[in-house]
Amino acid sequence: MGDTGTMTATSITPPGQTAARSARGSYWITTFGCQMNKADSERMAGILESMGYQEARAEQEADLVLYNTCTIRDNAEQKVYSYLGRQAQRKRSNPHLTLVVAGCVAQQEGESLLRRVPELDLVMGPQHANRLDTLLAQVEQGQQVVATDEHHILEDITTARRDSAVCAWVNVIYGCNERCTYCVVPSVRGREQSRLPEAIRLEIEGLAEQGFKEITLLGQNIDAYGRDLPGITPEGRRAHTLTDLLHHVHGVRGIERIRFATSHPRYFTERLIDACADLDKVCEHFHIPFQSGDDAVLKAMARGYTVDRYRRIIERIRTRMPDAAISADVIVAFPGETDAQYRRTLDLIEELGFDQVNTAAYSPRPGTPAADWPNQLSEAVKVARLQELNALVERKAKERSARYLGRVEQILVEGINPKDPNQVMGRTRTNRLTFFAAARPAADGVPCATWQPGDLVDVRIEQVRAFSLSGTLA
Ligand code: SAH
Ligand code: SF4
Ligand code: F3S
Repeated sequence: MGDTGTMTATSITPPGQTAARSARGSYWITTFGCQMNKADSERMAGILESMGYQEARAEQEADLVLYNTCTIRDNAEQKVYSYLGRQAQRKRSNPHLTLVVAGCVAQQEGESLLRRVPELDLVMGPQHANRLDTLLAQVEQGQQVVATDEHHILEDITTARRDSAVCAWVNVIYGCNERCTYCVVPSVRGREQSRLPEAIRLEIEGLAEQGFKEITLLGQNIDAYGRDLPGITPEGRRAHTLTDLLHHVHGVRGIERIRFATSHPRYFTERLIDACADLDKVCEHFHIPFQSGDDAVLKAMARGYTVDRYRRIIERIRTRMPDAAISADVIVAFPGETDAQYRRTLDLIEELGFDQVNTAAYSPRPGTPAADWPNQLSEAVKVARLQELNALVERKAKERSARYLGRVEQILVEGINPKDPNQVMGRTRTNRLTFFAAARPAADGVPCATWQPGDLVDVRIEQVRAFSLSGTLA
């Protein structure tokens, strides 16, 4: 486990590997895991391009391959090793290939990754993403580099190379100080570090100038935003909270929609709900993982709330914003979870009716408390519970989708439907993916055109599916 407090960045020069590399070529980044990793990858791509690298047409042609990895569950970690195996083989015939492992597996495994895959040039934890250029400079001097020490994340001066021209991720807090007993994130992402509100607003103003319309404020526990920043208000509360941040960035001209994730039920406040209801750019979609519908399991997970508290949060949201979409994450087959406890998770989904639930069977992670408990459940129980849960999640999502039928929804166009070039796709404010005809009716002076990314279009919903909608221009 990456003991981030004690490890230092190490450089190891293996024998016979001293040739300096100067020519910049093409790069390929594959991103695994969550939105934080996606945001980090966009920043790393920006750094590579500012260094003179160009995006490769295909992974197998790239001169630099970077895997930004995830270790949240065992299968996520194993996927990385199978990808790496292929590139390691390629490197044996092409020694000029630069191989980088970034992200959470890099942080967790550190130097032992080099022993497992000696072909690697650079192993770098998530806190080092903004230092990719410095680390590659060391690689170019012929070193194998491991950067996994605890690091203060510097304000980023490079421009991210963003995948979308419409929706942008904006990190507001890095790391996580919680200690959920199943979770590897605190040990791989380090302590919480909030960015200053001024820096966040500046970034968002820059995004608006570039034409971005939607931003998603990101943090593993976004409700923790600001608790590491100094300052107390005259009323005696923290000067910097997520609620204050929403107010602070709401006025940026050109940004039409604001989202945030991930919310933690332990810290979610009524003040925040009120701000979401009052600020019109903040979308009516809340991602609030509850993990289990049973109080004893929640306690064993060290989540710090009860099912009843969770229920009250959802009720309060729905009182203020009746149409709000609610999504969540759930784990089944946590160590010791009885059938009755598992059924309470199903009951809660049945009762509250989620628009979307990300589901997972518990996976023991190295260095986390629950991994060492003796009451692990069998693979068969995991598979059975997950299957039944997924069927319920889909049924409830379908029920939730039904409410859109016949309604007019405002869609922010993100691009062409990859499965049908005659359609564009975008999202409702509540985050439902929506498809409609790309052709735009003739307007003054514009005889025939198509909807473009960034357009806001009123669409009448005519078909509903569990996780997407289709319609026509209203
Ligand atoms: N910060 C978020 C979650 C981040 S991890 C939160 O507190 O809710 C994303 C999701 O992965 C978690 O919500 C959880 O449902 C799942 N997850 C995390 N560790 C897991 C494990 N060991 N096994 C299975 N699922 C896990
Ligand atoms: Fe993991 Fe818990 Fe932190 Fe979420 S809040 S990242 S589940 S430790
Ligand atoms: Fe995975 Fe790391 Fe995110 S473990 S879920 S990529 S924080």
